[in-house]
Amino acid sequence: MNLFEQRRVNENGRAGSVAVGSRAMTLGSAAVAPAPAADIAEVSSSMRAASGASAGAAARAQTSTAPIIAAENLRTYYGHNEVLKGVSLKLPQRSLTALIGPSGCGKTTFLRTLNRMNDHIPGFRVEGKVLVDGRDIYAPDVDPVLLRRRVGMVFQRPNPFPLSILANVTWGLRGHGLSRKEQRERAEESLMKAGLWDEVKDRLKEPALRLSGGQQQRLCIARALAVRPDILLMDEPTSALDPRASTKIEELMLELKKEYTVVLVSHNMHQARRVSDQCAFFLHGEVVEYGPTEQVFENPQDERTSAYVSGRLG
Ligand SMILES: Nc1ncnc2c1ncn2[C@@H]1O[C@H](COP(=O)(O)OP(=O)(O)OP(=O)(O)O)[C@@H](O)[C@H]1O
Ligand SMILES: [Mg+2]
Repeated sequence: MNLFEQRRVNENGRAGSVAVGSRAMTLGSAAVAPAPAADIAEVSSSMRAASGASAGAAARAQTSTAPIIAAENLRTYYGHNEVLKGVSLKLPQRSLTALIGPSGCGKTTFLRTLNRMNDHIPGFRVEGKVLVDGRDIYAPDVDPVLLRRRVGMVFQRPNPFPLSILANVTWGLRGHGLSRKEQRERAEESLMKAGLWDEVKDRLKEPALRLSGGQQQRLCIARALAVRPDILLMDEPTSALDPRASTKIEELMLELKKEYTVVLVSHNMHQARRVSDQCAFFLHGEVVEYGPTEQVFENPQDERTSAYVSGRLG
């Protein structure tokens, strides 16, 4: 069976769990691994439990066989320019991983490599592996379109289509074999998860471009959720928003990470600290440090991490 084919079966409501199920969640061998190499999934789920998250969510995080992402000695090139220089990271499921680091260090490149968004860039090349559920997403038999249904993406600037609010959310459902009624139900479900339903339920036919910037970003999140992904990639999703709209998206991230594996790029250290369970510090295309967020911010193992999180390194 082709990778992600099972997902298609699920869309038709016939099969059960999609998880192929890797439970190996130990910390990846980052360029400089924090000591000791703790099981980061256990650390983060016990931290969630301690911070008051529901016992159900914590238990689910420990027992679920939902997917994780693993990069193994990942190198990427734009032509001759090597941008990622041997990144190895394992991201636990149903939690939020923040990628931090100075401009140009490769955060976006890493994120976009996780759902093959860079495939179309001339001269872009990948070495090493990216595994989802233990399966290599760059293997020849993987369909990038099916991959992107499981690994959704939200961009820095809200980018709704010049269509109605409803049509934006159902956009990705074309070809899923869903009836109009099912699409409408899916849109409602997604808008609720994105925290936008109450604000738009009476104006679903209005142009999406009439929404505020923050609402547009939540609409884009709803659009990404409509195809029921397992993983959500977010590249600085609040950087174009005012503080109030940013806070709403942050609150949403805290909800989403209970159900999805979220990978967030953020330049906002306060935000990364508030919402993430684990944090990877990138520098010049390498992961200098990766560990539980509390440790990375309060007790970094590498002097460069310490300099960055304290604002001494731009
Ligand atoms: N499409 C592209 N073609 C060629 N080079 C690129 C392309 N996109 C990124 N790069 C190069 O890859 C390197 C890393 O860029 P990337 O966008 O991944 O960094 P970043 O950490 O996300 O930075 P920022 O914080 O500014 O968003 C940079 O040197 C950049 O010029
Ligand atoms: Mg970037």
